[in-house]
Amino acid sequence: MRIIRSIKEMLKFIRENRRKGRSIGFVPTMGALHKGHLSLIRQAHKDNDVLVVSIFVNPAQFAPSEDLKKYPRNLKRDAQLCKQEGVDIIFYPDAKEMYPANYRTYLTVEKLSGVLCGKSRPGHFKGVATVVAKLFNTINPDVAYFGQKDAQQAIIIKRMVADLNLPVEIKVMPTLREKDGLALSSRNVYLSKQERKDAVVLSQSLNMAKYLIKKRILDSRKIIKKMNELIKEKKTAKIDYISIVDLKNLEPIKRINDSCLIALAVWIGKTRLIDNTIIK
Ligand code: PAJ
Repeated sequence: MRIIRSIKEMLKFIRENRRKGRSIGFVPTMGALHKGHLSLIRQAHKDNDVLVVSIFVNPAQFAPSEDLKKYPRNLKRDAQLCKQEGVDIIFYPDAKEMYPANYRTYLTVEKLSGVLCGKSRPGHFKGVATVVAKLFNTINPDVAYFGQKDAQQAIIIKRMVADLNLPVEIKVMPTLREKDGLALSSRNVYLSKQERKDAVVLSQSLNMAKYLIKKRILDSRKIIKKMNELIKEKKTAKIDYISIVDLKNLEPIKRINDSCLIALAVWIGKTRLIDNTIIK
């Protein structure tokens, strides 16, 4: 396994492997790898000849008030995990390599970027779309892997790929969870003992929503109200949003009679956590 820090070198590696007719799988990450990341890496390893994982804490997707500085970083541990999983290359550029002085080009996926998490994190998905497009142009993968955990991100990337005719297939993999249901996230390390206990309420509220839907309660407002009540029982929890939306355009759905996405963001203390479920 090699760690490549320069775009030029990455392009060269990819060119050589393409010439040999090898398929390239790609998993973009911000590092602090956990089992959720590893499930994407494993799938990519199965599907492709060459496996590239990028580790880049992308400043463009963090607002000035957010946790860019304290975001967990541990290249040594990440590299060990990647090696164990058969990763060929870790692409590990620094911020100057990706955004040199005079960098001016950003990508916006209209409408989809302004709702749900995009509402509370303005500019976030502009940063995500931009960096993912830059990574795709550098790595030129056949298939790129994303997690359902960040459902809106996956939907936005799929839209961008279709809109710009990017020659890459997007595979979305299921959310990996702790035993109690908490979705794995690099940000879970921020939680105190009490907060970690309370954080289970995100997945609990989604399970309750699924149960209500099974019982034919299909009015979104009623479901959201129940979820609200459950989450508010936890002292450390503060709801950012709970939404039931269309899977393609992310517009709110009043009554559930087709597949949809239930998504939520909740502050647990000072940590903002997200989770979601797809209703089929
Ligand atoms: P990061 O949060 O590191 O996540 C990298 C990938 O892992 C994303 O596709 C995410 O959805 C997936 N993932 C995270 N937690 C998961 C879980 N519990 N189960 C399954 N998959 C999970 O998402 C980003 O980085 C960045 O926005 C990035 C796409 C790299 C662009 O900077």
